[in-house]
Amino acid sequence: MSTKERTLNRFEGKKVYLTGAASGIGQATAIRLASEGASLYLTDLNEEGLAGTAEQCKKYGAKVVTAKLDVSSQTQVKATIADCTKQLGGIDAVLNIAGVLLIEHFEKTTLEQFDFLVNINIKGTFMVCQEAMPHLLASGGNIVNCSSSSAYCGVGYGVLYGATKGAVSAMTRGIAVEFAKKGIRCNTIIPGEVSTSMTAQPAMPDPESLDFSLMSRGNPLTGQAATPDQIASVIVMLASEDGAYINGAEIRADGGGLS
Ligand SMILES: NC(=O)c1ccc[n+]([C@@H]2O[C@H](COP(=O)([O-])OP(=O)(O)OC[C@H]3O[C@@H](n4cnc5c(N)ncnc54)[C@H](O)[C@@H]3O)[C@@H](O)[C@H]2O)c1
Repeated sequence: MSTKERTLNRFEGKKVYLTGAASGIGQATAIRLASEGASLYLTDLNEEGLAGTAEQCKKYGAKVVTAKLDVSSQTQVKATIADCTKQLGGIDAVLNIAGVLLIEHFEKTTLEQFDFLVNINIKGTFMVCQEAMPHLLASGGNIVNCSSSSAYCGVGYGVLYGATKGAVSAMTRGIAVEFAKKGIRCNTIIPGEVSTSMTAQPAMPDPESLDFSLMSRGNPLTGQAATPDQIASVIVMLASEDGAYINGAEIRADGGGLS
């Protein structure tokens, strides 16, 4: 998107905290938010990627702060949320996009791999939501979490990944109900396959013995993976006032793959 294509200003004056902003869906989301006037607090493990995202966001004149974050560390989550409120003056939306994929034979999956995925995909999302909540209560803000179609259809060799994303979906529905009366919305985006570094180079430990037909249902709309921007546009809508009546929802952006 170029600066000339900017047509909406839904985030003018809004402060947004993102995880996973260094690449893929998180990067595309940050750039869209910047194009709509948001002030951004961008976090990720990958500092080089973060700097690249920040550079693109600044082309829209956005205020951008970046911070290295391992989302599985409570100390780091607390520090970045506190710093975000200090630097931006509050938080209007939290977008939990960081995540990791594991492609592995079920019977070879180790408990170390289990802890790694759970700590980032589930615990990381939980800690960011919990730590940001007082600030969202103050602003009447909202949360968008990132699930996956693999939470809803069995994906061979992605058993653990799908399980963590199912937990993110369930957590989101619970938060949505618990905080609805306090004016907080919480929703999930459910992408199908998206062209990002996650799907370009999955960690395939033993690819020759994998049956790839068990890994993807494809989608009837294009037959191709989505672009990150096709997912970002839905995340940004959910976080904006256009999503004001959407709460506890799981919005599929999968070209009809789960239909
Ligand atoms: N690509 C797909 O097909 C697809 C489909 C459904 C859901 N998703 C989900 O979308 C989200 C974004 O993934 P993507 O496809 O853009 O992949 P990506 O690999 O491009 O982005 C993931 C980001 O998370 C960051 N990250 C990883 N571990 C981290 C940690 N411990 N702390 C902080 N940041 C960390 C990475 O550095 C990276 O920038 C993920 O939650 C993923 O599970 C992706």
